[in-house]
Amino acid sequence: MVKQTFYDLKINSIKRETAGSSRIKFSLPNSLHEKFNHKPGQYISIRFNMKEDDHTRTYSISSEPNKNFIEIGVKHIKNGMFSEFLKTKKIEDVVQISNPDGSFVVNSEHANHLLLIAAGSGITPIMSILKSTLRRNNKSRITLLFSNKTYADMMYKTEIQDLKDKYLDRLLVFNFFSREIQSTEFLNGRITRDKIAYLSDANLIDLEDLDQCFICGPLDMTKSLQSYLKDKGVAEKKIMTELFFVATDKNIEDISQSLDTGESKIELLIDGSKKSFLMSKNDDFIDKANQNGINVPYSCKNGMCATCRCKVSSGEARMKKNYSLEEWEIKKGFVLSCQLEPIDKEISLDFDII
Ligand SMILES: Cc1cc2nc3c(=O)[nH]c(=O)nc-3n(C[C@H](O)[C@H](O)[C@H](O)COP(=O)(O)OP(=O)(O)OC[C@H]3O[C@@H](n4cnc5c(N)ncnc54)[C@H](O)[C@@H]3O)c2cc1C
Ligand code: FES
Repeated sequence: MVKQTFYDLKINSIKRETAGSSRIKFSLPNSLHEKFNHKPGQYISIRFNMKEDDHTRTYSISSEPNKNFIEIGVKHIKNGMFSEFLKTKKIEDVVQISNPDGSFVVNSEHANHLLLIAAGSGITPIMSILKSTLRRNNKSRITLLFSNKTYADMMYKTEIQDLKDKYLDRLLVFNFFSREIQSTEFLNGRITRDKIAYLSDANLIDLEDLDQCFICGPLDMTKSLQSYLKDKGVAEKKIMTELFFVATDKNIEDISQSLDTGESKIELLIDGSKKSFLMSKNDDFIDKANQNGINVPYSCKNGMCATCRCKVSSGEARMKKNYSLEEWEIKKGFVLSCQLEPIDKEISLDFDII
């Protein structure tokens, strides 16, 4: 586990990006350059207080690493807690931000051929990957598929256009709009498996030659494209996915509520010390740990970011849902603690293992 620590960062700028999104830059003092030297594609967590409660939200870093700032791009959510918090903020205000984390990253400096797929605000981690890969690796060839409702909704449109102009021979961009008609029929609508098939048949993407593919968008699009790419022979480990939002699945909640409510003893190894508390199947692990004075790392609390990842070292537990751990991690006993549901009466969790 990357230890989650929050630092006070000053807002350097807040700019409206589109009618429904903003870009926020945070200054990095010299002392924090190293801590925030993120891998392109990683995210930070922001802790803030609204309506007398503390909240944590996750935001992908859209800027390149090794700069004096980090930038995030935020889609405004109607009545969203962070969106409301943002309205109260101005330049020079201080916000609590964690060190970067996440595995939605390019896994080799020899990854030359990338397929990047983004929908809406899902472009944020993709921007960091796109800019840094094109600049650092002059052998890189990238295809970006980006879908939005309309041209006006497109975040980072100027930067993407500039990159297209600068890297004419290495970057191919397809912008899809679902609520604006373009003269090229192919570019109308969302990104689907048929669209990728079309690009592949037209030899505009060589799926066999891909080093990595990154998908960041809604769950249905992500799952569908991921399974299509797997069917076409792209190795599972080359397909990276990131989700920003998954609506609560009532069925999962119902199953959980119907299980017995006896308590289990949870023993944790965290930051080198052992702690324990009791929880029942219906309890929220993160809340229960906090109530017992134990600060475990977390961000989305919804199975998407993996900030809360730990390993079950003894006993049996299951996850209510999982959108971020890979099969090999589950086989090795890793779980998302925010989704933990104890099965045995005694369970040991290791948060210090990577
Ligand atoms: C790994 C990761 C990276 C992320 N990176 C980004 C990023 O770069 N930019 C960004 O804008 N967001 C990003 N998010 C989402 C972000 O963390 C927040 O969940 C989002 O901004 C909503 O927070 P909020 O406090 O404004 O809304 P909340 O108060 O959490 O939600 C208010 C209501 O809106 C619904 N809702 C929440 N999010 C959405 C959504 N996207 N679409 C529709 N309804 C929604 C909720 O279910 C709730 O009913 C990321 C999430 C994860 C897990
Ligand atoms: S806190 Fe995000 S997956 Fe658990």
